[in-house]
Amino acid sequence: MVTLVGDGIENPANATALTEAAGMFAVPCRFRDSRDLSSQLPGLSTVDTDGLLTTPIVAVDNAPGAESVYNVRRIHSGASIVVGNERRGIRPDLLRAAAHTVQIPMPGRGVNTLNVATAAAVALYYLSGATGRRPARRSQRPDVLLAAPRDHVEAGSSLRSAAAFGWSAVAVEDRDKVWFGTPRPLRAESRAAARSHRNPLRVMPSEGPDPVYSRIVVCSPTSDGPPVHRTDLTGAGTLIVIPDEGWEPPPSRTVEWARVDVPGAPGRYRLVTGIVLAEVARQLGDSAKARPPRRGLSYGSELDLTAPDGGELLDPWELEQY
Ligand SMILES: C[S@@+](CC[C@H](N)C(=O)[O-])C[C@H]1O[C@@H](n2cnc3c(N)ncnc32)[C@H](O)[C@@H]1O
Repeated sequence: MVTLVGDGIENPANATALTEAAGMFAVPCRFRDSRDLSSQLPGLSTVDTDGLLTTPIVAVDNAPGAESVYNVRRIHSGASIVVGNERRGIRPDLLRAAAHTVQIPMPGRGVNTLNVATAAAVALYYLSGATGRRPARRSQRPDVLLAAPRDHVEAGSSLRSAAAFGWSAVAVEDRDKVWFGTPRPLRAESRAAARSHRNPLRVMPSEGPDPVYSRIVVCSPTSDGPPVHRTDLTGAGTLIVIPDEGWEPPPSRTVEWARVDVPGAPGRYRLVTGIVLAEVARQLGDSAKARPPRRGLSYGSELDLTAPDGGELLDPWELEQY
């Protein structure tokens, strides 16, 4: 069994989400607590540097020269899979000691990191299994619908992942009104930071899967379909739906189901969306590299970019807060 380790995590909410990421894979989660997280989260399971260095270290970080997580096969039982601080990443002593350093390729042109707990879930998915994966092939990037997210931070983290994995537009069915119409204090600051000139993400309000799609694939940890890594998630006219708990497809639509195949608990929304979006990007291979959006439509997307006001444009700076 491997152990997930958070190195210098400073946000207690991220620490809780990391513990849940470990729970999805039924592995323990510990923290090298250099940021006094324990004072805010009593009972936190910690590990010191000497203890960590007795285990093989797999550093998960977008460090120069890191291997793609999709290419590393099963790793040693007993290994510590380490993720790093929200701003500074993994400390250099652990990066130096690592037997492997792996990165999750980020084809997006605006956002180049994931939320730390999302990165942990994606890394655990590929490092601990996902056997019998479909080979990557040149194909068209599918559209994505985030269906009924129940929490705005989970929705925001999922949108961050979508931008980092190379989407330039994403649809959100926001029946609980967690995203559109919710005051978000970061927005004013975000506008000020828009001078970063990095590519924004367009977020389109949606009423649910549109009849325009020829294929709708619903990806969920609770589905009894085939694993997402063995299901074709790409191609023209394809819509990938990632539902939060409680969403059902409209009875009038024929859908395929695919399973986010984890041995433990289903896990919170950002972890599920991260795994699904990573798998689509993996299947797209080189073609997942972001291309400049065409005027009007991007990637031949069916998303209705002509909707009243064209949805909401999110600056990468705002997304990186999630
Ligand atoms: C937000 S990132 C840290 C930011 C990073 N130092 C930077 O700005 O480039 C926090 C942690 O999430 C994990 N992480 C996020 N995106 C990743 C990616 N694309 N590949 C591997 N790890 C990633 C790493 O463990 C990283 O230390």
